[in-house]
Amino acid sequence: MSNRKTLAENIDELNRQQQIIKQLRKTNNEEYKRTGKKKTYLIRTYGCQMNAHDSEKLTGIMEDLGYAPAQREQEADFIIYNTCCVRENAEQKVFGHLGTLKPRKEKNPNLKIALCGCMMQQEHVLKEIKQKYKHVDIIFGTFNLYKFPELLQTHLETGETVMDIWKEHQDIVEDLPSIRKDPFKASVNIMYGCNNFCSYCIVPYVRGRERSRLAEEIILEIKDLVKDGVKEIMLLGQNVNSYGNTFSNKYTFPSLLRDISQIEGLERIRFMTSHPKDLSDELIKVMKQSDKICNHLHLPFQSGSTKILKAMNRKYTKEQYLALVEKIRYAMPEISLTTDIIVGFPGETEEDFKDTLDIVKQVKFDGAYTFLYSKRTGTPAATMEEQVPEEIAKMRFNQLLNILDPIIYENNLKKKGHTLSVLAEEINQQNTCLLTGRSDTNHLVHFEGDPSLIGQIVPVKITEVKTYYLIGELVKK
Ligand code: SAH
Ligand code: SF4
Ligand code: F3S
Repeated sequence: MSNRKTLAENIDELNRQQQIIKQLRKTNNEEYKRTGKKKTYLIRTYGCQMNAHDSEKLTGIMEDLGYAPAQREQEADFIIYNTCCVRENAEQKVFGHLGTLKPRKEKNPNLKIALCGCMMQQEHVLKEIKQKYKHVDIIFGTFNLYKFPELLQTHLETGETVMDIWKEHQDIVEDLPSIRKDPFKASVNIMYGCNNFCSYCIVPYVRGRERSRLAEEIILEIKDLVKDGVKEIMLLGQNVNSYGNTFSNKYTFPSLLRDISQIEGLERIRFMTSHPKDLSDELIKVMKQSDKICNHLHLPFQSGSTKILKAMNRKYTKEQYLALVEKIRYAMPEISLTTDIIVGFPGETEEDFKDTLDIVKQVKFDGAYTFLYSKRTGTPAATMEEQVPEEIAKMRFNQLLNILDPIIYENNLKKKGHTLSVLAEEINQQNTCLLTGRSDTNHLVHFEGDPSLIGQIVPVKITEVKTYYLIGELVKK
């Protein structure tokens, strides 16, 4: 039997949540009138951009409820941790912070604490929270974020901890309105979940099966964002290249990109993440043709060893990855390439690791996220024999950085003297005379400029480079 909800049922469900928000806001407003102080909230977000975007949806709900943002966690009346479990250290951080909230909750029982996100989709985590972190008030998962107002209401009525975790998605609208951090750029989900089951990765277990949003809905959302002043959008999906695979027609990710490129007023399109196994020639063609699509591709390779790639269930070989990069660079010689690399996957020998270094040396990436393999309970890799000892993995990890950093620096040196188009995003935190932004090649660029430029795309000539950022001068028109 299908548990698909019809559109009408979805709208009903959302309306019901809206009603609850109204009631709770009324109570909050009355309290505000009485006390003269608005209650404040703080959301701490762990993990990837999907989670960051979910937090923007939660921000929307909190503001609708009548809460104001807190400047510091210590001052907040309502604390939400939106958690990640992709690696063990992400989980440890959450437990660490959660522990520090215990004495605060004891002193102030009116403090509300909610937990949500990927970690909550795991049985063993819930068990640990129930045993050791009884000071949490509300717990929900990745499939029912929209239900947060109702869970809060139940908690307020009963005073009990409310926990609601769904094992899978039920086609309930996840496309909730959100409040963005920046007025000029926004993230847009184009798909949810993942079907790839890379053997090390927990994401498919905590985010469910892959499902693509309808193009019409995505395009409407982007048009609204553009009307609202947004210049750059980031299309989000765990594997954007399989967008549309669940549709019966042939509408693919390149089709979507083509249609989004037509949106008037939109200036920049980014997307992540691309899985190498199904990056099509069509995608390369669209990227080359559209001047709105940024000159950057994030293409994780994870390991350079074909043997390890097979054990990771990545579905490509070292040679296929290198051939793909060659094809991309042939079509777009100036493209900036970044990647993700895992070191110390079970069974990785010195030879296998050399293959990883070999890809790094051959491709000469412009940036990379490097990770020590982290064992995730419930994934096939967790029970593989030959887990690599930590000291060896750490040694390889350092070796990798020693090779990677000079390559990135060398690439950056080539940018010296060039003019890049940069979206000015904020005042530099270290030096307030500088503005900080991203080039279309995704380089972090600092330059002197007036804060009124924030939100504009401006030409910046690069004068100095470091490994992790570039420095430049505004080119006067
Ligand atoms: N869907 C994206 C990545 C999502 S997770 C993709 O497939 O490219 C982001 C990165 O975290 C992955 O690319 C991988 O490099 C890393 N990662 C995922 N699980 C991990 C684990 N168990 N240990 C170490 N790194 C991991
Ligand atoms: Fe994880 Fe692989 Fe899916 Fe990326 S593609 S989210 S690494 S299972
Ligand atoms: Fe983490 Fe969940 Fe993203 S596990 S990386 S927050 S999808």
